[in-house]
Amino acid sequence: MRILEKSGDVISIVALPSETVYQGDYLEIIDEQKIGSVIVQVYEESYIPSQSLTEDIIRDQIIESTANGVELDPYEISSVSQMIKDMRLLKCKVRGSIQNGIMIANVAWLPSRSKSKIRKVSQSHLLDLAGQTGSAQIKVGNTKDGETFTIFGEAIDGNLSIITGKKESGKSHLSKLLVSSLVANGAIVLIFDLNNEYEGLGFSKDGTKNELSTRIVVLEPGKSLKFSLDYLGEYSLISLMQHVLDAPSASLREFIRIIGSLKTVDKLSIDHLGDAIQNWRCNELVKDALYARFQTLRGSGIFTSEEDRAVKVDSVLRSLLPEGGAFVVSLRSSSSLAKRMVVEIILSKLVQLLEREAIPPIFLFAEEAHLYLRETYWDDIVTRMRHFGIFTTLITNQPDAINNGIYRQADNIFLFNFTNEADLDIIARASTADSDTIRSIVRTLPKRHCLVLGKVVSDLPMLVKVGEAKFLTLGQTKKFFGKSSSTKRIHVNAKLVRA
Ligand SMILES: Nc1ncnc2c1ncn2[C@@H]1O[C@H](COP(=O)(O)OP(=O)(O)OP(=O)(O)O)[C@@H](O)[C@H]1O
Ligand SMILES: [Mg+2]
Repeated sequence: MRILEKSGDVISIVALPSETVYQGDYLEIIDEQKIGSVIVQVYEESYIPSQSLTEDIIRDQIIESTANGVELDPYEISSVSQMIKDMRLLKCKVRGSIQNGIMIANVAWLPSRSKSKIRKVSQSHLLDLAGQTGSAQIKVGNTKDGETFTIFGEAIDGNLSIITGKKESGKSHLSKLLVSSLVANGAIVLIFDLNNEYEGLGFSKDGTKNELSTRIVVLEPGKSLKFSLDYLGEYSLISLMQHVLDAPSASLREFIRIIGSLKTVDKLSIDHLGDAIQNWRCNELVKDALYARFQTLRGSGIFTSEEDRAVKVDSVLRSLLPEGGAFVVSLRSSSSLAKRMVVEIILSKLVQLLEREAIPPIFLFAEEAHLYLRETYWDDIVTRMRHFGIFTTLITNQPDAINNGIYRQADNIFLFNFTNEADLDIIARASTADSDTIRSIVRTLPKRHCLVLGKVVSDLPMLVKVGEAKFLTLGQTKKFFGKSSSTKRIHVNAKLVRA
């Protein structure tokens, strides 16, 4: 390999067809006259752009198709000329330099074009040099060279992460791997699960319970997850009325009075709330508006007056301490309004608990959050909630559902394949990594491979094949043509045999 040219932070390198260097690989350029070496990453491969080579290829093609003759090549020139035609141009981004055994982000010198030696360098070696340390190891999968790829829970701790990619690319699978390792390392994780697939974390592949089974609490709104109004208290109830049920301020004022009066006589429950609204003396329109919202609350099925059936978010989270565990909220069967109510209740309770430092910081994994997270929570997630100790990972196959500001604040991004130009545009524009890398690498990513960006990889974009899971994987997309298609084929074959 040889350096051909440099423009900005892009170095072009020519490589022989036999040299096994591909997109995503890291190269070390060593110039013996200088101290240290330059680290670059290949983001695009192409042929050498040359007019004379193009003419050669066309000439060869014409001769081959028109003249039938004996080919004599005593000096084996043709093999050299073929090699030249197959030479590759590797476009590489400068990622930093290694000096005194430490990876640093800047490069102060230009390596020699004629004397530099170029060699491949492994991703895990680079991460070691970049000083990645921590105790909570998370094995994500393997690099292209077959080395184990591990990240540290510490790089997710206190940070905002995003997992995105097109449908069925393996996002939830990676998210489950992260959750299971975080839990195994003693963390508390809250999951908003849209497909009821995270309960598999507590089971092995053969369906038997695994070592995490007692630490995975799965609750389903309306069934195992019901709340009592008394437990919600004024703060959560008002935020529910205001943000989810859009109560106007006049109604909200009366509502506050009603729940205050119920509280004083110790009767704050869903059963008493309806009567209290009906018997309240206020403007009829306000009363109607409140009663309609009360009916929505009751109809959602997520409230109960039986104290012993009511769930307390604090008790669930405390039950996971001190070994760590996951609180999975299974939202698949809930209506869209019920989803928003449950999320509002849980998040408002969480904020209160964290404010009082009643629970340790918590990791939140939210699948397709735009379906149930209210507008104002988005900014909260990156600012206020992070300070309280809620560290969010957003998982989505619609990158435009997350606004640009959030991408820019994201500390880690796990990018799976995207082929759609509009989606690529959003990611390339918004994330911290350079858009050339994202555009060319992400477009060609195979299934189950992802490009990892951000703090978890010390800002060195890494290509990873996500590993298999030890736990039970649920959440496969249901298909109409499942087993039945093979039976159909058998019938057709049988007919053919008979004919
Ligand atoms: N690294 C992997 N090893 C083995 N199986 C995997 C891997 N990644 C994904 N799968 C399997 O591929 C299928 C799709 O993966 P997954 O559900 O994670 O995709 P997704 O991107 O979340 O899809 P959706 O957009 O539908 O939510 C699942 O059956 C999952 O078990
Ligand atoms: Mg998924």
